[in-house]
Amino acid sequence: MCGIIGYVGDEDAVGLIVEGLKKLEYRGYDSAGLAVFTGGGFEVVKRKGRLSVLESEIAAHPLRGRVAIGHTRWATHGEPSDINSHPHLGSRSRIAVVHNGIIENHKALRERLQSRGIEFASQTDSEVIAQLAEYYYNGDIMDTVIKVAARLEGSYALGIMCRDDPDTLIAIKKDNPLIIGVSPHGSFLASDVPAVLKHTDTVYYPEDMEIAVLRRDGVRFYNSDKEPVRKEPKTITWSVDSAEKGGWPHFMLKEIMEQPKVLRDTIRSAVSGENKDVIDGIDIANVKKIVITACGSAYNAGIVAKYVFEKLCRTPVEVDLASEFRYRDANIGPSALVILISQSGETADTIAAMREAKAKGATTLAIVNVVGSAIAKESDMCVYTAAGPEIAVATTKAFSAQLALLYALAIRFAVKLGALSPAGAEELQAELWALPDKITSVLAQVDTIQRYAASCVGYKSVFYIGRNIDYAIALEGSLKLKEISYVHSEAYAGGELKHGPISLIEDETLVVAISNCERLYGKIMSNIEQVISRGAKVMLIGRNPDAESGDKLTHIALPDTAELFSPSLSVIVLQLFSYYVAANKGLDIDKPRNLAKSVTVE
Ligand code: G6P
Repeated sequence: MCGIIGYVGDEDAVGLIVEGLKKLEYRGYDSAGLAVFTGGGFEVVKRKGRLSVLESEIAAHPLRGRVAIGHTRWATHGEPSDINSHPHLGSRSRIAVVHNGIIENHKALRERLQSRGIEFASQTDSEVIAQLAEYYYNGDIMDTVIKVAARLEGSYALGIMCRDDPDTLIAIKKDNPLIIGVSPHGSFLASDVPAVLKHTDTVYYPEDMEIAVLRRDGVRFYNSDKEPVRKEPKTITWSVDSAEKGGWPHFMLKEIMEQPKVLRDTIRSAVSGENKDVIDGIDIANVKKIVITACGSAYNAGIVAKYVFEKLCRTPVEVDLASEFRYRDANIGPSALVILISQSGETADTIAAMREAKAKGATTLAIVNVVGSAIAKESDMCVYTAAGPEIAVATTKAFSAQLALLYALAIRFAVKLGALSPAGAEELQAELWALPDKITSVLAQVDTIQRYAASCVGYKSVFYIGRNIDYAIALEGSLKLKEISYVHSEAYAGGELKHGPISLIEDETLVVAISNCERLYGKIMSNIEQVISRGAKVMLIGRNPDAESGDKLTHIALPDTAELFSPSLSVIVLQLFSYYVAANKGLDIDKPRNLAKSVTVE
């Protein structure tokens, strides 16, 4: 869950590495470092803390060079500290390495090297890579990398510099993301596209174990037998602005505001664009069971989808956390369609769940945002959300795009299965296309939501309730609040209130109720009365006409839409509410403590 970057070219490598690391900070931000060639050898600077600490250090002691590698860390082995930060050097300082991933056999490798007299400086698993490379180095860095990679177990994306070959960077990956960018002034390696987007839209996606040799004038790829590999570059369609804050105080707010466009692009792609052919190619008639598996917010999107698929298609749907699915020996086979949802396409548990599903013979369909990611590549089929780069750690626009794509899938499946008439499908399509404008009108309530959130900053505990599909989206509201504002929150199905949580309701507890399901309006209103009579204050989100704002109840009304699509409107209020609670507390919203956007470890 770290970010790596490297540059070799004509420009100031240190400046470019720091600029790129800023775009990768979402992957980890407990320490950062870089190594640069400065004529005779490497200069290394690495610091515990945010990237700004490293920047101050560089400002105080400027470094110059044209070849450098950098790293932003989310600690797994060894606490965040200067010494545990990357890059790591081999014992003779000939080789420097940045690593994203986990080396599972690091202990055995470390012990072997130590028994040969090699001393380690850090507690990290990553240092074994640098030490091993130094140990095997025979004057040919490519040979060395091949030898090292053959001994590593686990996952990695590596950026490597060798003192004897100061015009070259080497990159290699296994099960972790790596892109190679080529620009007119030099070549880049990076964990993700936003890090290089300002300089190039031409990138290569190396396969596992392919070796990329980067020089100022371009990149060459080789297989592990050192044979050249021909690769076609891809052109990135994301705009440079999409990875910039553009005047917004946080990426999260910018990304919330981008949702109408993201939905339009995602729906278009599902209905008439690139995703359409993939969706049309799914043999849904032979699917007996749909299993949806994912982590975090993507899992919550799966819970919403369960209600939508079962209602529209009448196909049984199970939703499972990827971390559970991978170990539960699920009862699935070739007649199951397993849908994996992942913004990054690199979440370790979701990758493992995909492999488990494939091993059981199921068909896998991925819903992914990042092109070329592990899940996108390895799943049997893949449809892409058109959210563009999402930088804030807590997802907003990618989640909304997942919902839109799931709705489009459900409509298509239902028509194919004969569960939905063409007229019914047309009506729902029209509702789907109307969602972006309706989201715009919910976003227009931002001032009201901001004021309300400001009045809620003191709450220590918040309960989210909803019934049916409103319960599904309550889960996401609760997760969003705890992720960025550090307020304890829990989501419950309204019907479960009496089975536990009501005992925690007292004066000045906040309850967020969601109500868009017509036949359950009355039921959620009685839940609300029960909590108000025990002292709670309530925010009711939804189109329930029975709600009347008063002393204890604040009603944020939503536009009408198909009930099944209402989560897409509720979630806008939930996101803005969480954002403004956190903003009022002065928190670092885009980089919440202890969290990382891409969870590439178990
Ligand atoms: C992290 C992020 C969440 C995201 C989850 C799953 O926890 O902070 O926003 O929902 O990972 O990530 P994925 O990339 O698989 O959607």
